[in-house]
Amino acid sequence: MTLPPRLISLLRERPRTVVHTGAGMSAESGIATFRSSGGMWDRLDLMDLATPDGFLRHTEASQRWYAQRMQQAQTVTPHAGYDALVHLEHEMPVTIVTQNVDGLHHRAGSSTVHELHGTLRTAHCFACGHPSHLADATDFPVHCTTCGGFIRPDVVWFGEMLPEAALSAAFAATETCALFLHVGTSSNVYPAASLPGLARDAGAMVVEINPEPGLPHGVAHYTLPHPAGQALPALVNALRT
Ligand code: OAD
Repeated sequence: MTLPPRLISLLRERPRTVVHTGAGMSAESGIATFRSSGGMWDRLDLMDLATPDGFLRHTEASQRWYAQRMQQAQTVTPHAGYDALVHLEHEMPVTIVTQNVDGLHHRAGSSTVHELHGTLRTAHCFACGHPSHLADATDFPVHCTTCGGFIRPDVVWFGEMLPEAALSAAFAATETCALFLHVGTSSNVYPAASLPGLARDAGAMVVEINPEPGLPHGVAHYTLPHPAGQALPALVNALRT
């Protein structure tokens, strides 16, 4: 893969870097994306599974779906692109901002990860907020041991607020980075989709990594139309040569 010379020069300056990831980042680890053809939203009704109202109407189906996704997230292997990001943080300051809830950046060993849409790793009671678990559940629906309410994953559903700490950290890092890598997201969901434009306005080089790039014209300086598992290791290789 040939990288743009200006990108290679910037990498060699060890720039402050933000890596913004979406579902495509985990595709090569075997986790389905949402909107690609054959993706999760082709097969499932989003409003039934990823909204508060849907959860209350279809509690058992929603809990089973999230429990299954958690189990999958715990068993798949983070691919070479994840390892490349761990390597990059030994070379330069790297902040990862992810829309993903699968925890693969943590499992790979990245140290600064802001999860904009929450996480599948933990859960809590929909009624009283008591912390709980879903991943190892075998009996559904899963109830709170404190109040009997339904257990939901610690993910952000449509119509809910994003976690304030992760959001402000993501914006702060984006406004101060010199390199912004936009990896594996269809840029459909806000406020995450606004980050590349913000980075560009603040003076960063914006690079989109996606076999089917989708950023509006004029946002990315460069596009690498390759899978994350190939493009991210290529960036690390550019530092070695
Ligand atoms: P999408 O499913 O919308 O988009 C996945 C993107 O990954 C597409 O642009 C693909 O072209 C790209 N892609 C596929 N394979 C890839 C690969 N190997 N390497 C790089 N890119 C690849 O997923 P997101 O943009 O993450 O929100 O979706 C954003 C949010 O919408 C999700 O966090 C979720 C969803 O509904 C909530 O649930 C709140």
